[in-house]
Amino acid sequence: MSRRSEFPADFVWSSATAAYQVEGAVAREGRGPSIWDTFAARPGTIADGSTGEVAIEHFDRFAADIDLMAGLGLNGYRYSLSWSRIQPDGRGAINRAGLDHYRRVAEALRERAVTPWVTLYHWDLPQPLEDAGGWLARDTAARFAEFAGIVATELGDVVGDWMTLNEPWCSAFLGYASGVHAPGRTEGARSLDAVHHLLLGHGLGTATIRAAAPDARVGIAVNLYSVRAASDTAADLDAARRIDGLSNRLFLEPLFRGQYPQDVLRDAVDPGWEDRLVRPGDTETIAAPLDFLGINYYSRHTVAGAEATVTSAGTDPSGTASTPEASAYPGSEGVRFVGTAAPRTQMGWEIHPDGLVDVLRQAHGYARDLPLYVTENGSAYADEVVSVAGERRVHDPERTAYLAAHVDACLAAISEGLPLRGYTAWSILDNFEWAWGYQRRFGLVYVDYDTQERILKDSARWLADFLAEREPAA
Ligand code: NOJ
Repeated sequence: MSRRSEFPADFVWSSATAAYQVEGAVAREGRGPSIWDTFAARPGTIADGSTGEVAIEHFDRFAADIDLMAGLGLNGYRYSLSWSRIQPDGRGAINRAGLDHYRRVAEALRERAVTPWVTLYHWDLPQPLEDAGGWLARDTAARFAEFAGIVATELGDVVGDWMTLNEPWCSAFLGYASGVHAPGRTEGARSLDAVHHLLLGHGLGTATIRAAAPDARVGIAVNLYSVRAASDTAADLDAARRIDGLSNRLFLEPLFRGQYPQDVLRDAVDPGWEDRLVRPGDTETIAAPLDFLGINYYSRHTVAGAEATVTSAGTDPSGTASTPEASAYPGSEGVRFVGTAAPRTQMGWEIHPDGLVDVLRQAHGYARDLPLYVTENGSAYADEVVSVAGERRVHDPERTAYLAAHVDACLAAISEGLPLRGYTAWSILDNFEWAWGYQRRFGLVYVDYDTQERILKDSARWLADFLAEREPAA
């Protein structure tokens, strides 16, 4: 078990949220509708029929929530801004009340010595931009860059660390291929158009942030999976190449090498795709130098080719032959996601802490000098509130074990020389887990959705002890 003092003194210990998942107050102070308001209102999209309308009232409760973070000993908070609060139409007029709100949040953090880490786009596109084509339209990239520039101009004095996009893989493939996320479209290979426009938005946004706030540190948060072939048959190895390609290389190669991986394009799109989509200068824009890379890591995929019989040790033959992920990967026809003997969280995601080191290593291979941050990592379990000596408590030993094992993996990464500079737990608080609604709890802090009461789970207490280097309480 690692100790905090084994990590560099300036290591960032952070936790995260995203605007639509926590804020609520969707119609307050001039906020316009986003694609998540529209999507969640559509029957059948969210498992429990819920929306982010109220969520956990973080819009009003942010100061108390920041007290909780500071109380645990965290020194960073990663959160996103609602574009629709700042530019309700996604273009043009600025809503001053939205900017004022986020200034108050950043100031509250700084007063408590918690560094703000701001994500500019965590999936909640202003609905008017979706009506104009969403991320399938090139203009959305320009609109995002304008928004990023406005925010950096207005908040650049209180925020120094910026992430342009959160998990563009999800925006493109869950939003426009499988359709399980907003805007809920099933466009197949056209979802790669969204990939290009998201990455272009990132590159253009990086430039507008730097122009507005020259001292800003700019990065992006990508979700990377550790990908393994179920065996070393040619078919399984090819399946791993495809899924690593669509999950990881499709983003890392344009960001750090200024080109799309040709094998992925061959699998996924028609031969004219690049000529149609990628204009002169785009690849240079996308590969603009960054100050750090954020990596969201949760799990590993073990994949097999269509023809292969999965026989490798530890593989569950009755396992999930084809998980819902498959429909989110255009060009992965025939690939099977196979289960292994590894334990899973309530999301069904296998737990592989060493996979975190895999993805850090992979990212480092693309950008040797770039500081890396884990910008999300966490687990969902079915938490229950119990009464202990009259106090409401949540015993979540599995989440604590997940957290401790991934913290250990961070130390292992540092020990092998990887430039890892921070760890971010998803999430500080239970919240609206997208298509799962309130049925999946990732928080270190439990939220009673009837009363909005916050209750520290044992995992939060463990983290506080770890950060203070106290012996964990029994
Ligand atoms: C990825 C996303 O960025 C976040 O919004 C989500 O809640 C977590 N992972 C858990 O699924």
